[in-house]
Amino acid sequence: MKRALVLYHSLFGNTKTVAMSLARGIERLEIEVDVLSIDEVDIKEIPEYNFVAIGSPTHNIKPSKEMKEFLKKLGTIELKGQLGFSFDTRNESRMNNRNLALLENSAARSIEGFMKRMKMRIIKPRFSAIVYGREGPLNADVEEVFLQIGREIGSVLAV
Ligand SMILES: Cc1cc2nc3c(=O)[nH]c(=O)nc-3n(C[C@H](O)[C@H](O)[C@H](O)COP(=O)(O)O)c2cc1C
Repeated sequence: MKRALVLYHSLFGNTKTVAMSLARGIERLEIEVDVLSIDEVDIKEIPEYNFVAIGSPTHNIKPSKEMKEFLKKLGTIELKGQLGFSFDTRNESRMNNRNLALLENSAARSIEGFMKRMKMRIIKPRFSAIVYGREGPLNADVEEVFLQIGREIGSVLAV
C-alpha cells in the first residue's frame, strides 16, 4: 500500500477545496491518501509517506506566513528522494503592477524550490489555481483540473 499526503494552508477555504480535489483524484485501491492542514500534521510522520503535495495561498507573491514558518520546520526533516508536488491559489491581481509583473506571482514556485533544495523528486511541475478577488470563489473549472492532476499523480504512484 502506497501512502500519499496532501498538506495545505488556507485562509478563506479555497486552497483547502483544491487540496481535497487533488486528494480525491489520487485516491485508488492501492493508495491511501490523507489530506491535512499544516496545523494538523505531525511533522515527524511526513517521511513515512511515499508522496507529499504542499499547497498555499499566494500572499505578496510568496507562500502565506504560516506556510513559510511551516516550511522552516519541515526543513529540519530528512525528505531526500520523497516524491513531491506543489500548488497554490492566487488571483493574479499583482500582474497589473508593472514592478511586480516580472516576478512569478506564485507561492507554489517557492514551495517547489524548497522541495528541490530538500532533494525531493518533483513528480509534476507546480500548478496554480486562480481565484476571484481575495476570498474566492475559485475559477469554474479548477476543481476538475485538480481532480485530473490527482489522477495523473495517482497513476504514477500506483506503479
Ligand atoms: C495578505 C494577502 C496578500 C495577497 N497577495 C497576493 C499576491 O501577491 N498575488 C496573488 O495573486 N494573490 C494574492 N492574494 C490573494 C490570495 O492568493 C487569495 O486570497 C488566496 O488564493 C485565497 O486562498 P485561501 O482561500 O485558501 O486563503 C493575497 C491575499 C492576501 C489575504
